Amino acid sequence: MGKFVVANWKMNKTIKEARAFIDEFNAKLPKKCKNWCICAPFTCVFAVFEGLKGAGAVGVQNIYPQEKGAFTGEVSPQMALDAGATWAIIGHSERRNLMGETDEFLAKKVKFALESGLKVIFCVGEKLEEHCRLKTVLKAELKALKGIDLSGVVIAYEPIWAIGTGRVASIEDIKRAHLAIIETIEKQNGVTPVVLYGGSVKSSNAGEIMALDEVGGVLVGGASLNADEFVKLIEIGGKYESK
Ligand code: 13P
Repeated sequence: MGKFVVANWKMNKTIKEARAFIDEFNAKLPKKCKNWCICAPFTCVFAVFEGLKGAGAVGVQNIYPQEKGAFTGEVSPQMALDAGATWAIIGHSERRNLMGETDEFLAKKVKFALESGLKVIFCVGEKLEEHCRLKTVLKAELKALKGIDLSGVVIAYEPIWAIGTGRVASIEDIKRAHLAIIETIEKQNGVTPVVLYGGSVKSSNAGEIMALDEVGGVLVGGASLNADEFVKLIEIGGKYESK
């Protein structure tokens, strides 16, 4: 089936721009490529869902852990599902750091998203100054998932210093971090998770990253905004067997 290649468009693309991307993407994506997902801004989710011809998935970049009510500006998992999303990114470092989302709040979001029928990409990763105590930081972030059935959850390792910087973690660092995540989740939740790498991934560096057994795929920001580049990444992921 190939490794899982996920686009995180972040706060980019109008509906018109999303439609132009999808037209090019549909035309270029080989039919056999199936293991991919586009996490679009809420305003574009339905347009992406409607326009996609391939067999991949659509996701959102956040949810609020309630079905409905007086939560101004928020979007529920039920609304995301209604718009065509099947995945939600939860715990991205930009939400942890810019919106002040705590581990406890993220655990609530993960539980509620899963109960509502969404699958989850749960992000963890260390700041540059925390790199020397990588394992401890990852373990602390993963603690939020304790006691949760992780069948519908994929973990994304995104070192904060590698996001949008053009600076990719070394192969050794990626292996070390992914092994630490796998070990922690095995001990804590009793399952072996799929772990994606994210941070300045592009078609020129994705090959050696996705060749690693410990890497189940990639979560891509900047490079996923270009349809041609995103198709290339999916094709690279397709060369390797996912677990
Ligand atoms: P970049 O690929 O732009 O570094 O972003 C990574 C990321 O944050 C994906 O969630």
